[in-house]
Amino acid sequence: MAFNFERKEFPLLYVNQHSRAIVGWGASKMAGQECQMYGIKHALLVTTGLKGTGIVDEVEGVLKAADVAVTRFEGFTSNPKDYECKEGTKVYLEAGCDGIVSVGGGSAHDGGKGIRIMLTNDGPDTSLKDFTAFLDPHYTTRIPTYKVVNIPHVAINTTTGTGAEGTAFAIINDTDWVYKLILVVPGVAPSVGIDELAFMRCQPPNIVAWTGIDAFCHAMEPFIGRLNLPVSHATGLRAIKLLSENIREAYASPANDVAIENMAWAQFIASMSYNMGGGMGMVHGMAHMLSVIKDLHHGYTNAIMMLPVERFNAVACPQRFKEIGEAMGLDIHHMNPVQASDKTLDAIEQLRNDVGIPQVPLKEFDFSEADIEHTAKWAINDLSREANPRDITPEQIKEVMRSCI
Ligand SMILES: [Fe+2]
Repeated sequence: MAFNFERKEFPLLYVNQHSRAIVGWGASKMAGQECQMYGIKHALLVTTGLKGTGIVDEVEGVLKAADVAVTRFEGFTSNPKDYECKEGTKVYLEAGCDGIVSVGGGSAHDGGKGIRIMLTNDGPDTSLKDFTAFLDPHYTTRIPTYKVVNIPHVAINTTTGTGAEGTAFAIINDTDWVYKLILVVPGVAPSVGIDELAFMRCQPPNIVAWTGIDAFCHAMEPFIGRLNLPVSHATGLRAIKLLSENIREAYASPANDVAIENMAWAQFIASMSYNMGGGMGMVHGMAHMLSVIKDLHHGYTNAIMMLPVERFNAVACPQRFKEIGEAMGLDIHHMNPVQASDKTLDAIEQLRNDVGIPQVPLKEFDFSEADIEHTAKWAINDLSREANPRDITPEQIKEVMRSCI
């Protein structure tokens, strides 16, 4: 038998820069001058799910006061779809826009990124499938063939969970494959992310819970992940501490200024954990499939999948779960890693329950055996699997999903 003595797993790590950002009370007032700085004279204002809040009108007023013309595109839904990107691209071209301003949570920002990828390539005829980050063939081998996206994008974030206002990934539903495309294209990160705390204070409690648990997963998955990126270890633990200390109060009272401000920073730091290169794991890998098949909120599906998947993973990384528990303030220092890991997972489950998200059986969503087969087929080649701490086979993916039925 011949042995290969080279290090084969992750000899190179790709570390992304996070977007510039402005975070604070009244940060959205800076949107006009940020557009001017990036040369946006006519913005496509991309929104989703904000009707009746007054937020879009407020932002449009700020842009117009800075002499930035605005064409609205309100065609994105939660879990932005490929055909919505196509439609938005047509509107952008017909109106003669020269940049994107997205307002909302991850769906708005990722939808805006999808439009920018299309504009950089063949316009509305672009197939976003061509930019999917699969493991086989590995996406990094294809990136050098891509055109760099250089269309300016100001992303105004209104939720405490997405991180998409600063990340170099776009997640778009492919309605043909019934799969969430993870699009990794150089330059696709927004030019600037604006985290407006006053808008975040307007979130309903369920959105605070769903997006906050999403942020928890953004911190947790890179921290336990096999990419083992020290940058993500630093950010992940701080984000977990902030999230576990603030999500209950923010959920109970979204108008609680202190809790919402801490959540805003927590989600920001958490998104750095995966965006900088720490990778994601199979919580996101399986949650993406549940989300795309049943069109459920991204954060909500992470909340449904987080405990079943991490209880499967825990055997691979008990010490990391002990450190997560310590960041959550648990009195587990005296325990061995396996005992401490169990306590941590129980505490995460309690946290999720406390913000109004029980372990809902998948049958409640009419999730079928055919859906489980579809999940295993696609999730095994999904970028999210790469950093998962425990090896996982298609059969094990099915077993975890069946345990949730
Ligand atoms: Fe997420």
